[in-house]
Amino acid sequence: MKAVFLKKFGAPEQAFEIRDAAIPTCAPDQVLIKVEAFGLNFADVLARTGMYPETPDRPCIIGYEVVGRVEAQGDKVTGDFVGTRVVALTRFGGYAEYAVTDYRAIGSFSGQYPAEKALAVATQFTTAYVCFHESMNLYRGDRVLIHAAAGGVGIALCQMALNAGCEIFATAGSEKKLEFLRNMGVHHTINYRENDYFKEINSLLKGQRIDATFNSLAGKSIKKDLRLLGAGGKLVLFGAASRVGGGKGIFSGLKLLFQTGFYTPLAFIMRSKSLIGINILKLGDYKPELIAKCLKAVIAQAEDGKLDPVVQKTYKIGDLNTAHLALEKRGTIGKTVVFW
Ligand SMILES: NC(=O)c1ccc[n+]([C@@H]2O[C@H](COP(=O)([O-])OP(=O)(O)OC[C@H]3O[C@@H](n4cnc5c(N)ncnc54)[C@H](OP(=O)(O)O)[C@@H]3O)[C@@H](O)[C@H]2O)c1
Repeated sequence: MKAVFLKKFGAPEQAFEIRDAAIPTCAPDQVLIKVEAFGLNFADVLARTGMYPETPDRPCIIGYEVVGRVEAQGDKVTGDFVGTRVVALTRFGGYAEYAVTDYRAIGSFSGQYPAEKALAVATQFTTAYVCFHESMNLYRGDRVLIHAAAGGVGIALCQMALNAGCEIFATAGSEKKLEFLRNMGVHHTINYRENDYFKEINSLLKGQRIDATFNSLAGKSIKKDLRLLGAGGKLVLFGAASRVGGGKGIFSGLKLLFQTGFYTPLAFIMRSKSLIGINILKLGDYKPELIAKCLKAVIAQAEDGKLDPVVQKTYKIGDLNTAHLALEKRGTIGKTVVFW
């Protein structure tokens, strides 16, 4: 089979190489999938640039999700999946013509659901579902702050918050993204690259507070978000995008740590606020059934129209480098997908 290998960290043209490789074999609890297309995630950019600690040793195949048909399954897999077209979460290994994954990390759409929309639902909507529905109890009228709201996870969070009847404060990095969000029905949009979102939201709140913030940035935004939260408020932290562009050495790591701040649990009691960390790779290892449940829930909601996956662009494999750069340069709204 052909596979994209990450051979060194850096720009896509130096980092990636398409090579021949052996088709992987299924472990007893895995399925083997012939891949039609794979999705890109922001974490892939972090992996390529050497900022993702869990990246396997190089040369390696990265990639968190594929769409394709199951060709084989291990002998401990419950159910018969051979021949089924599935969307699958992969723990790396997605940038290849064949991929293996745990049978609980697959889901299927009825009919010929478009591959690109299925991939949008996979990692990004599942992550959003874990953050929004498994970590929170939000009610109609609650005020939520969503950062990087026009990205893959951000759009999913906005759709979930709109469905729940929440009032949304969304940040994004360009006017085009803010306009997209307003067209989706998002109530308040702030360009956080031009204005201090803390000041803007504070003045919009007129003395009231936020009930939940969904933060994929870390750094200085954590202190600001905690100040915007009222009693009972929760901050879900699931990314550290603010580190990008600040170098990769120990000093940039320390800078991120100091900007993010150090907190005592006692302060959270006194203020009745919570900080929740989410990492779906860790949850997939420890609680695969939870991730399976969330994947199935987002597929069901996408099929009945409650969730509407947004696709930025589909690329052919020869344009993988261009696709990666588009994601890195913060130019994308929604999902980026690559077809073999
Ligand atoms: N913890 C988990 O299990 C988990 C799972 C999936 C994703 N994530 C995280 O969730 C976030 C969103 O992932 P995604 O795949 O949906 O990506 P994405 O949102 O489609 O793209 C990332 C966006 O982050 C924003 N951003 C903010 N600061 C940035 C910076 N310094 N450099 C580059 N981009 C910056 C950009 O939007 P603006 O132009 O609006 O700034 C960019 O478009 C990522 O941080 C990712 O690592 C975490």
